[in-house]
Amino acid sequence: MSSLTNKQILLGVTGGIAAYKSADLVRRLQDAGASVQVVMTPAAQEFITPLTLQALSGNPVHTQLLDPEAEAGMGHIQLARWADLVLIAPASADFMARLTQGMGNDLLTSICLATAAPIALAPAMNQGMWRNQATQANLDLLIERKIHIFGPADGGQACGDIGPGRMLEPLQLVDATASLFATGSLAGKTLVITAGPTREAIDPVRYLSNHSSGKMGYALAEAAAEAGAKTILISGPTQLKTPPRVQRIDVTSAQQMFDASMAAADSCDVFIAAAAVADYRPAQVAPQKLKKGADESITLTLVKNPDIVASVAALPKRPFTVGFAAESENLLDYGRAKLVHKKLDLVIANNISDSRIGFNSDDNAVTVIDEHSNHELSQRSKQQLARELIALIARKVTAPTQ
Ligand code: PMT
Repeated sequence: MSSLTNKQILLGVTGGIAAYKSADLVRRLQDAGASVQVVMTPAAQEFITPLTLQALSGNPVHTQLLDPEAEAGMGHIQLARWADLVLIAPASADFMARLTQGMGNDLLTSICLATAAPIALAPAMNQGMWRNQATQANLDLLIERKIHIFGPADGGQACGDIGPGRMLEPLQLVDATASLFATGSLAGKTLVITAGPTREAIDPVRYLSNHSSGKMGYALAEAAAEAGAKTILISGPTQLKTPPRVQRIDVTSAQQMFDASMAAADSCDVFIAAAAVADYRPAQVAPQKLKKGADESITLTLVKNPDIVASVAALPKRPFTVGFAAESENLLDYGRAKLVHKKLDLVIANNISDSRIGFNSDDNAVTVIDEHSNHELSQRSKQQLARELIALIARKVTAPTQ
């Protein structure tokens, strides 16, 4: 049974070219078992007609705040009470600004003010508008107020620009919506997740590192928080925003990640090592910037870093411990060897020789390896994959025979 069965979704549509996708979204939400009522802003009606959404949803579309006839039927307070979730897709920059200010100058903003249901936004706008400081400041405030943000995606835009601001596809929005109702699978549990690269200093300006963006680990942290877990994200240097309801601890080197992990792992239920940790670090960090000398080559002596995930798995009171395996060949054999040698409960193996997945990509494809079996999850967005991995881990933690 889909987790949207019998859920009542109030779909708010605001003014943007992505409004045409809202028609498909209505259908997809209904296919997943939800009842849908649609509210449109005046600007949205410039892009798509209420009639289209009425025909698809099977319900009258609500457009007016100050319409006595509409208010006599299902008025803004009734709509606010009816909703299990208010999903606004697309959410324009203007709508986000009005929501941030707490305005109630149309039906949709009034519903958002009145509702006790969670609110989720699927932003959609030109990349410049998305990157604008005002929009980003509004976004931060909305996240602080526990409003869920789905997307936006990066890519080609209707205006010809390329960048962040595309609305997620309807099926991705249905998945994200369903995951909100799936919360609770990790309620009461604490998860610690490492993410991103480490930097191993050579001198004050140079370091050894790798191409990890942190996207996989951050997506896991977001999914874990959505599943109700207290989530601690131990992050190497990245450009990513902290997901809502996630406690982030910033570190730079493998040693710092080790220290933070060991301090947090003692009292957690699940530890997931998604970080790309440097196996070695320079034996000595030069106190001053190294100068180019006459030598044609120089030698850097490296010493081993502590293995974080193996140390967590070796704790006397160990959490359920999950490692990643980043491999460019023999994925299954090398992945299984890591499961055994590091004494892990689960290994998530990914092929990092394929640039469409693995390091710094938006997608990933993995094989989940446990003591008895291998389970493949084909290429999909890191967000989707993370939700599936977290659901799988939740099942193992709460029903250990699975
Ligand atoms: O960050 P992204 O750009 O989204 O890319 C995601 C990813 C490719 C980095 C991620 O999916 C991934 O594979 N992370 C693990 C990378 C890695 O270092 O793999 P490994 O096979 O070298 O290490 C095996 C496991 O041991 C990993 O869980 C790693 O976190 C852990 N490890 C390694 C060394 C060390 N000193 N301490 C560790 O805990």
